[in-house]
Amino acid sequence: MDLVIPQHVAIILDGNGRWAKSKGMPRSYGHSRGAKNLEVICEDAYNMGIKYLTVYLFSTENWKRSQEEVSALMQLFRRYTKTSIKTAKKNNMKVRVLGDPSALDDDLQKNLAELVESSKDHTGLNFQIAINYGSRNEIVRAIRHLAGDCVEGRVAPEEITEEMFSGYLDTREVPDPDLLIRTSGEQRLSNYLMWQLAYSEFYFTEVPWPAFTKDDLWKAIEKYNGRERRFGGRLEE
Ligand code: IPE
Ligand code: IPE
Ligand code: MG
Repeated sequence: MDLVIPQHVAIILDGNGRWAKSKGMPRSYGHSRGAKNLEVICEDAYNMGIKYLTVYLFSTENWKRSQEEVSALMQLFRRYTKTSIKTAKKNNMKVRVLGDPSALDDDLQKNLAELVESSKDHTGLNFQIAINYGSRNEIVRAIRHLAGDCVEGRVAPEEITEEMFSGYLDTREVPDPDLLIRTSGEQRLSNYLMWQLAYSEFYFTEVPWPAFTKDDLWKAIEKYNGRERRFGGRLEE
């Protein structure tokens, strides 16, 4: 049976810390294994026919973690973004960044900008990384921008539509996710893509992110194929 491959898969990659703890290792070990796994899953996803992959790397709430964990994560992101410049070239992957980079260290901001710029003409996997991302923060930033355009007279309030508003979000140019996957057992959104996930199918798995494999991705896609997507409409008799 041929499976329908979702065009856009969004992932909340969760459980790095618990996975590491279960192995008697520090949380930072879980994060670095998680980052490695992300490179593998990116290739697998593209080979399966997924066109857009959007992953949650760091939320606007994750600053509340210990200073030690936050700085270990930032160090990891510095390395990860550097490597990604090379892998994006090798895999023809186009990278976009979701979130507000202004709170990140200058060198990390520079890496992110370079990653986006150097991959902008690539035609393979569209890969979105959400870093210092929160859906509420994204919506507020979009509203500020749009309100500014209204004040300047570029937009009249009655011209605002859902489609136009979407164009102010960090995900402009990216279609809404068809499937959301969250690893490691939690069943919540944690401030992820609340506008964009309005009609996505949700798949939750107990598998922690560092242990998540291509087979687990297939399982999610199989489940997705068993769903009847309705978008509010009536099913045909
Ligand atoms: C996900 O793993 C990665 C980030 C949120 C940065 P966690 O760090 O949330 O791991 P758990 O959920 O504590 O196991
Ligand atoms: C969500 O995971 C954020 C990322 C995966 C980056 P968390 O582990 O931070 O979410 P909560 O705190 O369990 O809701
Ligand atoms: Mg977590």
